[in-house]
Amino acid sequence: MISEKLAKAINDQINKEIYSSYLYYAMAAQAEAQGFKGCANWFHIQALEELTHADKFFKYLCSQGALPVMEAVDKPELKGTEIKALFEQTLEHERFVTSRINSLMKLTREEGDYASEIFLQWYVTEQIEEEENATGILDQIRLTGDSKQGMFMLDRELAARVFTPPPAPAAD
Ligand code: FEO
Repeated sequence: MISEKLAKAINDQINKEIYSSYLYYAMAAQAEAQGFKGCANWFHIQALEELTHADKFFKYLCSQGALPVMEAVDKPELKGTEIKALFEQTLEHERFVTSRINSLMKLTREEGDYASEIFLQWYVTEQIEEEENATGILDQIRLTGDSKQGMFMLDRELAARVFTPPPAPAAD
């Protein structure tokens, strides 16, 4: 049985994952408006993935007999609209999410909630990938310098990203 404190913290994370989705939709819209169809595709898929992250948390709370509560979602604020700025904000945001997942993991340990610890391990691994992806794209952008051809190639590469739903959580 999950504690009220941990259930509340996971419920907050559902909100943050939906906010993340909203943020990436805002970025997809900006990339689309600038003609970067591949970047728009990457952000759109990122937005969909964030919804699956929220969904996994939602189902987990239900499986533990807790009641998920849907709170208001903040309006996403973009720090810049250029492609490079969008990916810089992506990396910054994913680092923030990692810190939140780490805090949740710390809480499970404090409470001796081993089931939740196992459940959260998926998110710990996912965050490594999330940060790695954003860092890799930023590295590529920096390597292109101001080259339009480089950005064109990157955009083509990001157009190939496809949406893959995550596996069902172990606790399902
Ligand atoms: Fe749900 Fe991008 O972390």
